Amino acid sequence: MARKRVAILISGRGSNMGALIEAASSRNYPAEIALVVSNRPAAQGLELAKSKSIATAAIDHLSYKSREEFEAELTKKLAAAKIEIICLAGFMRVLTAGFVKEWEGRLLNIHPSLLPAFKGIDTHVRALDAGVKVHGCSVHFVVPELDSGPIVMQAAVPVMEGDDEEELAMRVLAAEHRIYPEALRLLAGGKLTIEGERVVIAGVDGDSDRALVSPMI
Ligand code: GRF
Repeated sequence: MARKRVAILISGRGSNMGALIEAASSRNYPAEIALVVSNRPAAQGLELAKSKSIATAAIDHLSYKSREEFEAELTKKLAAAKIEIICLAGFMRVLTAGFVKEWEGRLLNIHPSLLPAFKGIDTHVRALDAGVKVHGCSVHFVVPELDSGPIVMQAAVPVMEGDDEEELAMRVLAAEHRIYPEALRLLAGGKLTIEGERVVIAGVDGDSDRALVSPMI
């Protein structure tokens, strides 16, 4: 099967992007990272992508009058690179409902909480403040409503006594780096079906009644 052409959208550090690039460097991986786009020209992740010889584009959102104009430029770049799947990885711009609908079922995001808990920002501080004992991350399909959409995969990590925000964030980040490449592998490999709010993961034999891959690792 031809490898799916993937664009990763970032705004900053790009460590999840790095994990996806690393996974896609394996010959058996069903996706190739064909483009990395940042809305911030100074994003650290752009340099990392370049160092891996991945095509990059900076589309500074401040240069556009509206979200639609920014997205029109983004769409041009995606089309030129023949992109089939988009992964948001620390991309800090809200996408319009029109754009999201256009990419329905082909647009993933990673969020640093066990959704639907702690949507939005500052998830680790809020998890600590709430006193939860288990925290984690989720890869989900993007829908117009922020941090919602069918969940593909989640990973849970313990909250330890005395954790501060940074310690908890690092533990969650390590889990993010495990599940995002796995989720993209499933999507690019054609193993995912969206049924309402649920994502059904097909087994390797194509029997979608029984998932062979645990969504919680
Ligand atoms: C990650 O925690 C991700 O879940 C969130 O933003 C952070 C991005 O980190 N959406 P990085 O740029 O991938 O290192």
